[in-house]
Formats: sequence, C-alpha cells, structure tokens
Amino acid sequence: PENVGILALEVYFPTSYVMQEELEVHDGVGKGKYTIGLGQDRLGFCTDCEDVISMSLTVVKSLFEKYGVSPSSIGRLEVGSETVVDKSKSIKTNLMELFNESGNGDVEGVDSTNACYGGTAALFNCINWVESTGWDGRFGLVVAADVAVYAEGPARPTGGAGAVAMLIGPNAPIVMERSYTSSQMAHAYDFYKPVLASEYPVVDGKLTTYCFMKALDLCYRRFGEKFQKKEGRPFSLNDVDYVVCHSPYNKLVQKSFARLMYNDFLQSPSLVEEEAAAKLEAFSHLSHDESLADRDLEKTAQVVAKKKYDEKVGPTTLLPKSIGNMYCAALYAGLVTLVHNKGESLLGKRLLLFSYGSGLASSVFSFRIREGAAPFSIPAIAERLNVKSKLESRIVVTPENFVKAMHLGETRYGAKDFVPTSSIKELRAGTFYLTKVDDKYRRYYARK
Ligand code: ACO
Repeated sequence: PENVGILALEVYFPTSYVMQEELEVHDGVGKGKYTIGLGQDRLGFCTDCEDVISMSLTVVKSLFEKYGVSPSSIGRLEVGSETVVDKSKSIKTNLMELFNESGNGDVEGVDSTNACYGGTAALFNCINWVESTGWDGRFGLVVAADVAVYAEGPARPTGGAGAVAMLIGPNAPIVMERSYTSSQMAHAYDFYKPVLASEYPVVDGKLTTYCFMKALDLCYRRFGEKFQKKEGRPFSLNDVDYVVCHSPYNKLVQKSFARLMYNDFLQSPSLVEEEAAAKLEAFSHLSHDESLADRDLEKTAQVVAKKKYDEKVGPTTLLPKSIGNMYCAALYAGLVTLVHNKGESLLGKRLLLFSYGSGLASSVFSFRIREGAAPFSIPAIAERLNVKSKLESRIVVTPENFVKAMHLGETRYGAKDFVPTSSIKELRAGTFYLTKVDDKYRRYYARK
C-alpha cells in the first residue's frame, strides 16, 4: 500500500470550561500567570457524566457517521490513553460496543499507555499494520483520549480533556514519512501515577520541562541525521512548513520551537537568519546540559524565533490553548487545529510533529500533505471537524464550580454504585454520557 497515513480526523472536547484569567483571580496568583506565563486561554473539563470512555465513544461514533465508515470496515482499533478507569481492561473494549450491530469482532489492537505518548504509539502501530503482511485491506482506527486533572497547585491550570479519532489507511491526504521517525526513550520520574487511589499524577514540574526539552533536542537531531542520510543534505526548519508540538501548555510550545531554531543554529549558523545567528552566537559554546539550564538562551531564542513561530506554529495552537492539556489527544488536537485553520492550502506542505510522554517516551516524525480522494481530503476533513461551532457551543463555568467539579471527581474516582448528578443539558447532540456505575463498578453509557 502507498501513501499510508491519516484519512480522516474527528475531535471531541467537553462543553464545560473555565476562563484562565478568572482562575488567576480565584487562585490568587499574579495577573497574567496562566494566560501569559503558561500561554493558556481556557481550560476544558469533564463533569461527572463524562469520562475518557464516553469521549472515546463520542469521537468514534461521530467519525463513523460523518464519513459513512462502517464498523465492519475496521480491522484494527487502538486507543492511546493514560486515563485509568478499569486498569486491566482496555478502553478499546468499551468501543467494541459500537461494532455489535455490524457483527465485526475481528478487530486487532488494545490500549497503549505511556503518559501523553500512547496516542502516538497507537498511530505508529496502526500505520505499521497497514504497511505489513498482516494487513487485510481494512482501515485502522486510532483514538487518542484523556482527562488531564491535577491536584490544587501550580499544575492545576494545565489540565484539560479531549479525544481525537484518526482513520488510517493508504492513499491518505496526511501521509507519514515513516523513514525519518526518530525517538528518545529513557527512564525518568518526571510525571507518573503511582497512587492508584487518585486520578492525580505525581509531578516534578521542573524535571518534566527539562526532560521534555532534552528529548526534543535528541529526537530532532536524530531526525535530521536520518533525513541527511537519505536526502544527502542537512535538515532544518527551512524544510518544514508547520510544527505541531505536544502542548502541556502553550508557553512550552513556544520554548520548544525556539529550541529547534537553536538546534538549527548549532548545526550551522547559515540555517537561521543572520540576525538570529548573531544573537545566538553568545550561546554557541554551552554544553548540552548548560544550554538546557540557561535562562538567557531560553529568552533570546524565543525572541529570535517569534516571527517563524507565528508562521509555522501559531496555526496549530487554537484548540490546545482553548482546552488545555489533553495528554494523548493534545498533539493531535494541534493537528486538527492546523487542518481547521489552513484547509486546502496545506497541499504539498510538510508537517513536523513532536510527541512527548513523561516517564519517558518521545518521537519526532513528519507528515506530507497530499490530495487524497473524497471524502478523505483536507477540505472535507476541515469541514467535518466543525471546530468553530464546537468551540462556540461551550458553556463557561465559574472557577468555584470548576473546583466543585474537581472535588466531585475525587469522590467519583474508583467509586461504585452511583448515578452521575451533573446535567446532560449542556452536552451536544450525539454525545455519549455515563448513566450509572453499578455495585460491581460496571459503567453504563447512553447517547444524547
Ligand atoms: N505574568 C506573566 N507571566 C508570569 C507571571 C505573571 N504574573 N507569573 C509567572 N509567570 C511566568 C513565569 O515567568 C514562567 O514563565 P517562563 O518560564 O517563561 O519564565 C511561567 O509563568 C510559569 O511559572 P513558573 O513559576 O516557572 O512555574 P509554575 O509554578 O507555574 O509551574 C509547571 C509550571 C511546572 C509547568 C506546572 O504547571 C506543572 O507542573 N505542570 C504539569 C507538568 C507539565 O505540564 N509538564 C510539561 C511536560 S509533561 C506533560 O505533558 C504532563
């Protein structure tokens, strides 16, 4: 099969959100800390009638309907998520409820988990499957979905929730350039979930950003080496039209892009503009670790990268800034945003992606955009995503009610024998929701 990649995309995020500027006041932090300091506008969250399973059901059902894809045409389905519900039982198994009517149970794949990286692992698996001798001609389907919630404190404003579904197959408009894909995998306790009774992670905030940046450097350099080996010339941001970065919060995305430019400069000052090279010169003698710790470099690189950031990254940031970290879904919500913003003008363009999951697993990989065939084309995807109306149909909630929802979530986590108390009035038509959890912790869903 040729041109294997993403044929179709769908996104779902909850209707409830809180304004970051109101959270700043509520939390008593300096004005601008969340909106400018973290670069976030709004934070989306689930009430107790939604969870990672209901979001996944919604996004898959919606993709099936919008593209007229029959469940019997799916041969592999994988979910990437770090949101723990039934631990040993994959979220994928819940999604098989959507296949009952078709009678198709012959669907490979289970869940992939490693912090925010699971969606990428699932994507690679599905692409590999289509490219393998095991492929039977049917579609692959990837779901990247998470509920990101943090304990009270500096990490809380970096929460969010959402799900992205991606249909995988040949002759795709979003084609993966598989041979350049480069990874960095290592052991780190930067973010993990050892307290099984709590939904909240244990986070070493400073260590996560250090690990994130270091992984980005290593993946990017390796990607460049593979590119050079194949193409016989150096790789730089000049070969890339758009950069989609995992977005824990937007400030880190700004820093990441600046870091890529610094990497280009280190490879050869001629790969960046003269003015940028002149300003970065002062940092050319730092060791790798020194460069990661240098705050002046961080600020200078952000300033010199600003114009290119606005061009190459700006069009990917709307959903991550408006919803927050969606863990596994965050990177792909950036891709969705790009397709929504740029539509058909993406034809022929190259996208570079950085996926990072704490613990840690990370990859840099690239997509080429091509025409595809209806309904699997960029304009058709952009139209069906309906990003604007999804954003406009959201309901703002006060910080007090957001905190109440977090408290309720704490009592619901790992609980049995309850009926959700939140109203389903605000849910958009077609949204799945939790109707009850019985005395054996079994969950039941309905569709609005
Ligand atoms: N106005 C404008 N900016 C401000 C203000 C203000 N009033 N106050 C602070 N800031 C800026 C700071 O200068 C800093 O920006 P800088 O790094 O560009 O200098 C930024 O706001 C953040 O402030 P800090 O004090 O550095 O950090 P904070 O205590 O807010 O914690 C952290 C940030 C560690 C990221 C926390 O939110 C966290 O732990 N998040 C979860 C972990 C995470 O997302 N890690 C990233 C990768 S892993 C993953 O995806 C989960």
